[in-house]
Amino acid sequence: MTQDELKQAVAQAAADYVAANAPAGSIIGVGTGSTANFFIDALAALKDRYPTAVASSEATRKRLEGHGIRVLDLNEVEEIPVYVDGADEIDGGLNMIKGGGGALTREKIVAAVAKTFVCICDASKLVDTMGKFPLPVEVIPMARAQVARELTCLGGKPVLRAGFVTDNGNVILDVHGLSISDPKGLEAQINQIVGVVTNGLFALRPANVLLLGTAEGVRRID
Ligand code: 5RP
Repeated sequence: MTQDELKQAVAQAAADYVAANAPAGSIIGVGTGSTANFFIDALAALKDRYPTAVASSEATRKRLEGHGIRVLDLNEVEEIPVYVDGADEIDGGLNMIKGGGGALTREKIVAAVAKTFVCICDASKLVDTMGKFPLPVEVIPMARAQVARELTCLGGKPVLRAGFVTDNGNVILDVHGLSISDPKGLEAQINQIVGVVTNGLFALRPANVLLLGTAEGVRRID
């Protein structure tokens, strides 16, 4: 199976999960990235049952609207029973690194509202210890150099994501060389640096369910 076929299989499994667990009319939280895009396409087939969603990025909003799914502002929404999103790395405790697509802050906000976070990814994303994938950190532009110095003190090598501006008008530092033995502690520590909007560790609010695409089929880990 190709990587795209694995992504498509987990996206369909997530749509099946939504259909089985979210009452008709629920507002569905939708993540960002190539795997989330396959989920959006699968969700479109259920749009009579789930006509509204909340998007974690402008790209996702456009794709949902392209399928005729209405996208609500999060401030109008009180409950999101299920949020479906991909990850760049995920460990056995369902802690994740996200933000490869640069949407980490909005993803973290939607995930905070959601009752259940369903992570969808292919088997290459499951790791014992996170950190091989550079950790994205969204930063207020004027604080870039100072935040980079602080991240270097934590043992990382921050690299500015060239030519990239987030949906919130900020920049991303991708931090290389971290071996993340305490994901919750590091997430909290980086978020304390003045000028950091948030970082791509999702450990304080990990996923609840992982749907993992493998050559043998979709594996569910709770
Ligand atoms: C975007 C993300 C994505 O979920 C993550 O980058 C995975 O993307 P893909 O499904 O394309 O591998 O966090 O900010």
